[in-house]
Amino acid sequence: MRAFFLCILMALSLSPAWAGVPNNRAQPAYAEEQTILQAEHDARAPEPGLASKDSGRVHIDRHYLGQYGNKEGTVIVQRGGNEWRVLRNGPLATLSGVILVLALLAVFLVAKVVGKIKADEPDTGRRIRRFTDWERHIHWATAISFIILAVTGLVILFGKKLLIPLLGHDIFAFIAYVFKYLHNFIGPLFIVCSVLMFFTFLRRNFFRRIDWLWFRKAGGMLTHEHVPAGFFNAGEKSWFWFGVTLLGLVMSISGLILDFIAFGQTRYVLQVANYLHLIGATLYIAAAMGHIYIGTWGTPGAYHAMRHGDVDEAWARAHHGVWLDEVKAGVPVGTFDKRAPPPDHPPAGGAPDNVPPGVRP
Ligand code: HEM
Repeated sequence: MRAFFLCILMALSLSPAWAGVPNNRAQPAYAEEQTILQAEHDARAPEPGLASKDSGRVHIDRHYLGQYGNKEGTVIVQRGGNEWRVLRNGPLATLSGVILVLALLAVFLVAKVVGKIKADEPDTGRRIRRFTDWERHIHWATAISFIILAVTGLVILFGKKLLIPLLGHDIFAFIAYVFKYLHNFIGPLFIVCSVLMFFTFLRRNFFRRIDWLWFRKAGGMLTHEHVPAGFFNAGEKSWFWFGVTLLGLVMSISGLILDFIAFGQTRYVLQVANYLHLIGATLYIAAAMGHIYIGTWGTPGAYHAMRHGDVDEAWARAHHGVWLDEVKAGVPVGTFDKRAPPPDHPPAGGAPDNVPPGVRP
C-alpha cells in the first residue's frame, strides 16, 4: 500500500517537471526558437481564444502570408525572422561577397590577358554622332544613381562586419544612417531613369541574326579580331536585357516592396523581397563591373562616345562596322544587320552581304 502511494506521489511530482520543460526532446535551437516551441505547446492547451484570430493576439506567425490579414501588430514572435537573419547574415552575405570578389578578379584577369581592344586603323579625324544629348543624360543619370545604390547597399549589407572594426561604432552608425536614407530615396529615382533608358535604347537592342556570330566568336576577345556588329554588339545587348531589364525589374520590384511598407506586406514578404534584392544586387553589381570595364579602359574611345556623344570613323569601323555602313548609306539603324554575315566575312567590321554596294568608303 505504501509503495502504491509512493508511486502515485512520484508520478504526480514528475508531471509538473515535464510541464516545465515541454520540449525537452526538441533539437537544441536558438532561444527565440525555444520560445516559439513553448508558445506552440501552450497554444495547444485548451485555453479559449489563444492563438485564434478572434482573441486579438497572434502568438506565432507560422503561415507567414496573409493568414492574419495585413495587420501584423499583434504578432509577437515571427518564426521566419530568425531564419531570415541567419540566412541573410550567413550564407547569402558570404556568397554575395565571394561572387563580387571573383567578378573583380575576373575583370583584372581579362584586363591582363586580353588588354585593350583598340581600333585597327589610326583616327581619321572624321567624327560621327553616336549618342544624342538625351541618350547621354539618361545613361549617366541611371549610371550615377546605380553607383550610389550599389555603394550604399553594400554598406548596409557588409558594413557591420567590415566597417565597424575599421571606423568604430559611432562613425559607422552615422554613415549607415545617412546611407540608408540615401538608398531609400535614390531607389525610386533609379527606377524612373531605368524605365526611360529602357525605352530610349530598346529598338537598337533587339537581337539579329548577325549577333550569333559575335557570340560564337566571344566578341573576338580571344582572337583579337573585330567581329561585325550593328549599333550595339551582342554583348551590349545581353547587358541591356539581362542587366538593365531583368535585374532592373528584380531590383525595382523588391526595392519598392522594402521601401514602401504601407501596403500590407507581411514580414515574410519583406524577407523574401530582401533575399531577391540581395541576390539581384550581387549579380547586377558583378555584371556592372564588366560593363564599366569594357566601356572605359577596355575599349578606348567608348567612354568618350558616352561622355561627348561622338566617335571617330575608324572607331566606328572597327567596333560597329555595320552601323557605320548604315550611317553612310543614310538608312535607319538596324537596317543592315538583320541577316547573318557570310562565313568569310572580313574581320575588320566590314559590311555583311546585304549591304548595298557602294556604301563602304
Ligand atoms: C540596382 C540598383 C540597386 C542595388 C545595387 C541595390 C543594392 C542593395 C543592397 C546590397 C541592399 C542591402 C541588402 C541587405 O542588407 O540585405 C539593399 C537594400 C535596400 N534597397 Fe536596394 N539596391 C538597388 C535598388 C533599389 C531600389 C530601386 C530600391 C527602391 C525603390 C531599393 C530599396 C532598398 C531598400 C528599402 C533596402 C533596405 C534598406 C534597409 O535595410 O533599410 N533598392 N539594396
